[in-house]
Amino acid sequence: MSAEFANGRAADAARGAIKAHDLVKRFGEFTAVDGVSLEVRPGELFGLLGPNGAGKTTLTRMLTTLLAPTSGSALVAGFDIVRESAQVREVIGVIPQALTSDLDLTGWENVDIYGEFYGLARRVRRERARHLLQMVGLSERANDLVGTYSGGMRRRLEIARGLIHSPRVLFLDEPTIGLDPQSRRAVWELLRQLRSETGLTISLTTHYMDEAETLCDRIAIVDGGKIIALGTPSELKAMVKGSDRIELEISGDDTLTIERLRAQPDIHDVTRDSTGLLIISCDDGARMVPRVMDQVESAGARITSIRLERISLEDVFIRFTGRRLRDEPARKGGGFFSLNMGMPRPSDMK
Ligand SMILES: Nc1ncnc2c1ncn2[C@@H]1O[C@H](COP(=O)(O)OP(=O)(O)OP(=O)(O)O)[C@@H](O)[C@H]1O
Ligand SMILES: [Mg+2]
Repeated sequence: MSAEFANGRAADAARGAIKAHDLVKRFGEFTAVDGVSLEVRPGELFGLLGPNGAGKTTLTRMLTTLLAPTSGSALVAGFDIVRESAQVREVIGVIPQALTSDLDLTGWENVDIYGEFYGLARRVRRERARHLLQMVGLSERANDLVGTYSGGMRRRLEIARGLIHSPRVLFLDEPTIGLDPQSRRAVWELLRQLRSETGLTISLTTHYMDEAETLCDRIAIVDGGKIIALGTPSELKAMVKGSDRIELEISGDDTLTIERLRAQPDIHDVTRDSTGLLIISCDDGARMVPRVMDQVESAGARITSIRLERISLEDVFIRFTGRRLRDEPARKGGGFFSLNMGMPRPSDMK
């Protein structure tokens, strides 16, 4: 299997894995996807991150040939999604948002039927199904009915099923929605393993910040059908200036310290909170910490505690849209960083 993936990878390198140009999808008067252009590199794990209704699924459905674009164009592994939709379908794996495995069949049968659907010979199907079921940790449950599986097991089974024809580009729509934390981590581990061991290109939609941040090489933040920012997690954070924060507790007179810190080029602001803590907003906080320590010392004060908080993707989203990613109750205490641990909520269950 890895040789096939390697060949596919070389081919993708020549063609580009996904290239979308000004894709638009309208439903009547409503524009769900509003001029999306993007390029996903071969072997990349690419994330589409955005709130409910952002247009992630609609975009994915167009790229996977399930929905015709209103205008614009896209190539997947070099094939045009409209004119060469059959070829696109041959080279992609699709794991949709809703669970679709057949509850009345065993895990093995679910995977095998897909292989048959793709015209794979029985021997090839058997070999691949065995390998894939082992990879997703379901070998021992392969002969049990899927009706007896947990949600996490079904999701892993569906990932195995989506790989039976050795696709070159895998699309996953909200792969961990509704899963418990342990199952989510198992899916994350699986995706990491797939990327590192097979070089598969993966496009993933999610509205979980932590999922996008921990898994994705690059992320497109989608809102209202548009890409509002695109980059690696670090690049996205760097787009928001002055958002890293250093909290400093010092002993001695802090007036001179504040004056010196304010004179530093990458420090945007220094304030004193009601408890006497100094709050420094700056770029590239990790690099600033030693400079801050030097300035405190040279001002004749002494640090009793120092804490660095990096901007989160949630903060990036807020800066770009003026809204939170999800409709959550306001955070208490004016917390600067996201308290969303990415746990599925009942409203996620679709
Ligand atoms: N077939 C359709 N007809 C009309 N409107 C649609 C259709 N499909 C999607 N929409 C609308 O397009 C918008 C984008 O929907 P989409 O499902 O792509 O969002 P999403 O980002 O995947 O959201 P979620 O996080 O809830 O899955 C929504 O407002 C949705 O109601
Ligand atoms: Mg969706």
